[in-house]
Amino acid sequence: TWALAGACLSDTMDKNGYVGNKSAVFPLQLLGYDVDPINSVQFSNHTGKLLYITSFQQSRNQRPHLRCEIICCCVRVHGYPTFKGHVLNGQQLCDLIEGLSANNLLYYTHLLTGYIGSVSFLETVLQVVERLRVVNPGLLYVCDPVMGDEGKLYVSPDLVSVYREKVVPVASMLTPNHFEIELLTGLRITSESDGLKACNILHAAGPSKVVITSLIIKEKVFLIGSHQKVKGQSPQQFKIVIPKIPAYFTGCGDLMTALLLGWSNKYPDNLEKASELAVSNLQAVLQRTLADYTAAGFDPQSSSLEIRLVQSQDDIRNPEIKLKAESY
Ligand code: ATP
Ligand code: MG
Ligand code: NA
Ligand code: MG
Repeated sequence: TWALAGACLSDTMDKNGYVGNKSAVFPLQLLGYDVDPINSVQFSNHTGKLLYITSFQQSRNQRPHLRCEIICCCVRVHGYPTFKGHVLNGQQLCDLIEGLSANNLLYYTHLLTGYIGSVSFLETVLQVVERLRVVNPGLLYVCDPVMGDEGKLYVSPDLVSVYREKVVPVASMLTPNHFEIELLTGLRITSESDGLKACNILHAAGPSKVVITSLIIKEKVFLIGSHQKVKGQSPQQFKIVIPKIPAYFTGCGDLMTALLLGWSNKYPDNLEKASELAVSNLQAVLQRTLADYTAAGFDPQSSSLEIRLVQSQDDIRNPEIKLKAESY
């Protein structure tokens, strides 16, 4: 085992890519989870168009329910001029699962997925969900259906129908952004009530928890959460108004989904509280990132910013809730 490491204080502005597991694993560990990441890709840096996958697990203790696996991946928009590395294919993912299975290590409480770049890999992930649920029928699958942002698709269009038809029905929690929930439901969303309606459509298809991580209505940013506690009954729905910071940060979606998993496992019946905590974490990380770049004389609007995650560990563990959820 080896690692490249740097000082925690930012001695250079650009870290080489807080996306995918690099955004998701550390905060989950800070919240006390024992995580097994699987990197679906291993690259020297983030690429602008390419992605990370990862996965992790809470390791099993004597007591049940302490194993969790998360596969997550993601895409970023601004890039470095070049990158090198490797992509994991479906067969290689199956090999890892086989290895775990052969050692009786397939008991997980959670699976988290993020960016997935091909239909064949997504189909393999679906097989993994099935496998894990044979071992633990209560396994929660938290799916960030990463497909695009701000009206632009950044995956192959044939992934959309697989998410819609096969992934949504088996997911426990979904964390789409505005564009992604439109793709999943076919609804054009221009108001809060459209957003709530879209959540209802997703509940009817499968997941009991839906968090639209950002919905842009008339220049305002909302998080909308919806928790259907009993199948067929009306969900509890709420919003959090998010003050938009005028900069673009990498890896926010990945970080957000990980935090929503982390906090909602601590407050399983209170998605409002879990979302308040996750949003508060995000605000603290982003404000620190902005301050750090600004202090170094860098124009925060000139490119995307690498989040200051390690430096924000105390805020992640103990967030101060400044933004409150409002029930509908
Ligand atoms: P990404 O944009 O990283 O691909 P995403 O679109 O799935 O992923 P968003 O919904 O854009 O994720 O962001 C997730 C969370 O990050 C939001 O709920 C919000 O709390 C926070 N966030 C991201 N960007 C900003 C910003 N510029 N100002 C304030 N909060 C932000
Ligand atoms: Mg976004
Ligand atoms: Na999202
Ligand atoms: Mg996203």
